[in-house]
Amino acid sequence: MPKDINLLVTRQFPGDVLDRCERDYSCTFNPDDADWNGEGLLSRADGHDAILLSSNSKFTAQVIAELPDSIKILATFSVGYEHIDVGAANNKGLVVTNTPGVLSEATADIAFMLLLCASRRAFEADRMVRTGQWTGWTPTQLCGPGMQGKRLAILGMGGIGRQVAQRGRAFGMTIHYHNRSRLPADLEQGAVYHETADELMKVADFLSINCPMSDEMVHFLNEDRITLMPDGAIVVNSARGGLVEDAALIAALKSGKLFAAGLDVFEGEPKVNPAYWELDNVFMAPHIGSATVETRNAMGFTALDNLDAFFAGEDPPNRLV
Ligand code: 8YV
Repeated sequence: MPKDINLLVTRQFPGDVLDRCERDYSCTFNPDDADWNGEGLLSRADGHDAILLSSNSKFTAQVIAELPDSIKILATFSVGYEHIDVGAANNKGLVVTNTPGVLSEATADIAFMLLLCASRRAFEADRMVRTGQWTGWTPTQLCGPGMQGKRLAILGMGGIGRQVAQRGRAFGMTIHYHNRSRLPADLEQGAVYHETADELMKVADFLSINCPMSDEMVHFLNEDRITLMPDGAIVVNSARGGLVEDAALIAALKSGKLFAAGLDVFEGEPKVNPAYWELDNVFMAPHIGSATVETRNAMGFTALDNLDAFFAGEDPPNRLV
């Protein structure tokens, strides 16, 4: 890779990823790992050919319009790309790439962590031991619903959803799903397809949200959909916070309509609706779905593979249109 390609690297990505950036490109790094957005991005973009970015940086139509013409490609270190106006980028002749596939397993692991921690009351259990409140075992202490034989409803049966399904089967759950289109039998592996998301809600003893964010999906999980769910259901979200209407979820957790929730993502994160802090039946994590050493390296290498292909005159493997 010729070193004369100038790459703006917007975050402190894992060391091996930064090493490969430095080996193959002429880089501007962000040693303070500051959140570059708006002017912070635009003021640094001059003189660069490409940007390696995370989902913290918002490439709105306005930011894209103001990017210098030297920028030819935006490579995001993420599978989700709602932080980039891909249409505006493509209209300007900019190539956009993402990193699908490599984070499916790690994210499905976290979806399962949330399912287990919510249903088995991990927050209360940990707090009881940690604060010295545990005075002894009792037959009914901290019981929650078991997973075996229950229906696991998966919203979005892409790479992550299918990995969640595989874990659900290992836990003895029956798999139900809704997806924009039905999967072929070899990928479905006996999972029950529901043509509408509302039908899926009716069988969701456990609901795992694994679909991409889009304008149509804003606040998908609202009061009406929660009402459709079985009483005492569990909800987990490892996709995007905006898919859930916080007020509706909080009300259902307070009323007991839902037994518990597990959340790795939040609307407007890192801000979190403070009403969640008061609830014992919500287990929370700070967007760590893909946070394994191996996965974060693989995300960086996939983003760099996309850049390498582009600058070698090839079509990048994960090009978004
Ligand atoms: C990333 C994610 O860690 O890839 C995604 O879409 O949500 C996360 O796993 C984050 O977006 C990094 O850019």
